[in-house]
Amino acid sequence: MATRKIKIFDTTLRDGEQVPGAKLNAKQKLEIALQLERLGVDVIEAGFPCSSPGDAQAVKNVAQEVKKSTIAGLARAVQQDIDICWESVRPAESPRIHVFLGASDIHVQKKLRMDREKALNLAVESVKYAKSFCSDVEYSTEDASRTDFEYLCHVIEAVIKVGATTINVPDTVGYATPDEFGDLIVRLRESVPALDKVTLSVHCHNDLGLAVANSVAAIRNGAQQVECTINGIGERAGNASLEEIVMTLRTRQTVFQAHTDINTKEIYRTSRMVSRLMNIPVQPNKAIVGSNAFAHSSGIHQDGILKDRRTYEIMKPEDVGIKEHTMVLTARSGRAAVRHKLKDLGFDLEKEMFERVFQRFINVADRKKEITAKDLSSIVEVEISKVPETYAFLGMQIMSGNQTTPLSSVRLKKGDEVITDAAIGNGPVDATYRCIERLIGHQGKLLDYDLKAITTGKDALGEAMVRVEIEGRVYSGLGTSPDVIEASARAYLNAFNRYFANNV
Ligand code: KIV
Ligand code: ZN
Repeated sequence: MATRKIKIFDTTLRDGEQVPGAKLNAKQKLEIALQLERLGVDVIEAGFPCSSPGDAQAVKNVAQEVKKSTIAGLARAVQQDIDICWESVRPAESPRIHVFLGASDIHVQKKLRMDREKALNLAVESVKYAKSFCSDVEYSTEDASRTDFEYLCHVIEAVIKVGATTINVPDTVGYATPDEFGDLIVRLRESVPALDKVTLSVHCHNDLGLAVANSVAAIRNGAQQVECTINGIGERAGNASLEEIVMTLRTRQTVFQAHTDINTKEIYRTSRMVSRLMNIPVQPNKAIVGSNAFAHSSGIHQDGILKDRRTYEIMKPEDVGIKEHTMVLTARSGRAAVRHKLKDLGFDLEKEMFERVFQRFINVADRKKEITAKDLSSIVEVEISKVPETYAFLGMQIMSGNQTTPLSSVRLKKGDEVITDAAIGNGPVDATYRCIERLIGHQGKLLDYDLKAITTGKDALGEAMVRVEIEGRVYSGLGTSPDVIEASARAYLNAFNRYFANNV
């Protein structure tokens, strides 16, 4: 069956990076961009270059290294933004400037403090200006789903006339419903014939949990590009999830008669990488990439799966790159076995990083009988996500119980100095966090705390993820250990080390 190609525009590195605490450094950004290229996305929105010199440089690095995907940078309808954006994306084989401006009355009048005419002129002038540098210019009518329809058509017509090559229709606040949004796409195509000559794109947010439904409704009604993020991360409730859109089109081809060029076998690896580097856990029941997405727990379901997987599975886990690994490692496994296993899991580590992972592996394996593939992946992810350790974790002791005030004593190393202190708290984690704060002389506000078992069983490895506000900014931290309080302590310290890495 001949199907329409839908372009995948990934904005994990821009809209996704707007999540508090998810800020990436340039190296991490490049690592994700290269993985997105392997995944086969058509366009990578690498950042918002005018937001900081660091982001401008990070976008430039991506533009220099990525060869197959188009590299877009976001710019407000302001000449200076467009100048900076162009400087960042121009080294790319295929650069794109993405200009946006509010279109709804609430955005035009209240946020921009303009009238519609002035905003329309600004849109036209900005696209003309961007076009003077770059042939590929995308224009986004921000808050399109709440914009007066006639005015929306005027803006779109006008920016196409001066050279916009992609028109993006965002549901910026996640307000639309699928019928409404699909209908908006139909009406726009009917009312603005020039849309036939450009790429029509959509960008949906998930405030009502409808981002993917709205995106696929738009595709069904003629949209040719979707903007989305890995794991659905993004501003507020997030953006439409890339993996859900891609697998919906693939699994229900007869409904959508559309395809993407995504190599679906790279989906799981990309999801894990984004979760690890941005320190945003994936909820277990998340479609496609959650840890339970292909797990069958009820007896009836297990029986069905054993007889024929299709009884309860509409996709194969291997199609999204989830492999079941059965080989387990123990404290007696040598470097060769660990290296082999890592390769199998897709980690090709340099010598120094391998050594750090191996030492941590031995440390964990001494306390936990068997190290599974998931445990090992988690150990690697924690080691890779480590920042320079202003304070290194050495050890801890806890006294806790229902009849006693929890007391925690922690030992850290700063440079060559070993420092130890103790503190009490409302629970063992609270006592440990207070103790760490005393030792390093800084306080944090714990915004998020997530603890999960990497595998099943009583001796499962615990993985803690935290988000901590330190002096007005949010830092994330990750830690693992067979001891959940130690995993929590390592995660808290990791967040502080991130703070020190950025501020000292
Ligand atoms: O949500 C939105 O409208 C955006 C635009 C910049 C495309 O992120
Ligand atoms: Zn957005």
